[in-house]
Amino acid sequence: MTALFEQFSLKDVTLRNRIAVPPMCQYSAEDGFTNQWHEANYQSFARGGAGLVIVEATAVSPEGRITPNCLGIWKNEHVSGLKNIAERIKSQGAVAGIQIAHAGRKASANRPWEGDDHIQPSEENGWQPIGPSAKAFGAHLPVTPTEMTKADIERVKADFVKGAERALEAGYEWLELHFAHGYLAQSFFSKHANKRTDEYGGDAQGRGRFLLETLSAVREVWPENLPLTVRFGVIEYDGEDEQTLSESIELIKQFKEIGADFVSVSVGFNTPEANIPWGPAFLAPVAKRVRDEADIPVATAWGVDTPELANETIENQQLDVVMVGRMHLTNPHWTYYAAKQLGVEKPSWVMPAPYAHWLERYAPSDER
Ligand SMILES: Cc1cc2nc3c(=O)[nH]c(=O)nc-3n(C[C@H](O)[C@H](O)[C@H](O)COP(=O)(O)O)c2cc1C
Repeated sequence: MTALFEQFSLKDVTLRNRIAVPPMCQYSAEDGFTNQWHEANYQSFARGGAGLVIVEATAVSPEGRITPNCLGIWKNEHVSGLKNIAERIKSQGAVAGIQIAHAGRKASANRPWEGDDHIQPSEENGWQPIGPSAKAFGAHLPVTPTEMTKADIERVKADFVKGAERALEAGYEWLELHFAHGYLAQSFFSKHANKRTDEYGGDAQGRGRFLLETLSAVREVWPENLPLTVRFGVIEYDGEDEQTLSESIELIKQFKEIGADFVSVSVGFNTPEANIPWGPAFLAPVAKRVRDEADIPVATAWGVDTPELANETIENQQLDVVMVGRMHLTNPHWTYYAAKQLGVEKPSWVMPAPYAHWLERYAPSDER
C-alpha cells in the first residue's frame, strides 16, 4: 500500500489515510455562527477523501477572533451549527477536527481580502486586543495590545476549557489548540511579544507557562480516548532558530507529559522581520526533528503540494500525517486526485461511488 494511503490511528480514532485538511479561516461568519458556506466548504473536503478535516480557528471568546467574521465557540448557541459541520464531515468518512483559538494581539483585523490590517479599537467593528505584554506586532498590525493581568490569564484558560467542552458536545473527535502563528498562546512563548517579568515571562519555562497551563486545563475535560493536539510554531526564522527550536522541543516534551498526543509543526509568525525560507515541504525536516527528539507523532503543512511529495514525507518517516491546505481549495477532491496519481489500486476507497464510478474511467492527467 502507498504510504500516504495507509491508515493512521491515534487513541480511539483512525484516519482512513494520512492526508489532513488543516484549519483554514473562511472569515465568513456573523457573530461566530456557521452558515451554508461553512457547510459546503467542509463537507466537500471530506467527500474528496481526506482522512481528517480540521475546522478553522474557532474563537474561544469574541475578543479572540482574528476578524469580526471568524467562527466562534464562546457560547452554547454556537454548538448546533458546529455540530452540523462535524456531522457533514463524518458523513463522508473523514474524522472531524476543530482548532480552538485566541488571536491575542493579532485580533481585531480586517479580512485578508479587505486589507488584512488592524481595525482600530475606536472604529466600528474593532476592539482592543490583549497580549502577554503591551507590545504591538507591527507592520500591518500596529495596535498595541493591553497587557494581560493574572485575572485575564485565568479567564482565557477557562474560555479554552469551555471551548473544548463545546467542541466535544458538537461531536468533534480531534481537538487542536492553536498555539501557533503569533496568536495569543504562541505570543506568550515568543521573546518578540512577551516582555513580562512575572512567572509568565522570562526564560523558556516562564514563557511556556500559559501554554502548559492551558493544555493542562483542557486535558481535564477532553476525553482520554480522543486525540488532544496542538499546532505550535517551533521556529521563527529570525536568526535565533537553533535556540527557539530546542526550547520548543523541550516544551513539546512537556506537552506530551501533560497529555498532548500529536503536534502540528508550524512557524511562529511572531515578527514581521522573519526571513522564512518558503519552498516545497520546507518544514518537513523540522517536523522530523520534533518527531524524533520529542518522540511524538507530527504533521506539517506549507507547500506539501504534490501527491509524490506528500507520499515521500510519510515514506521517509518525516511526518505521520500531511496537512494539505491550499491545494484543497484548488480542488476539494485533492485526496482522490492524489490516490489516482500514486496509482492506488482502488481510488474509490477515498471517494463515494456516485462520483468515483465515472471518474475512474479517466487517466489522472484528465483530472479536472
Ligand atoms: C485561507 C487560509 C486560512 C488559514 N487559516 C488558518 C487557521 O485558521 N488556522 C491555522 O492554524 N492556520 C491557518 N492557515 C494556514 C494553513 O493551515 C496552512 O498552514 C497553510 O495554508 C500552508 O499549507 P499549504 O501550503 O498546504 O496551503 C490558513 C491558510 C489559508 C490559505
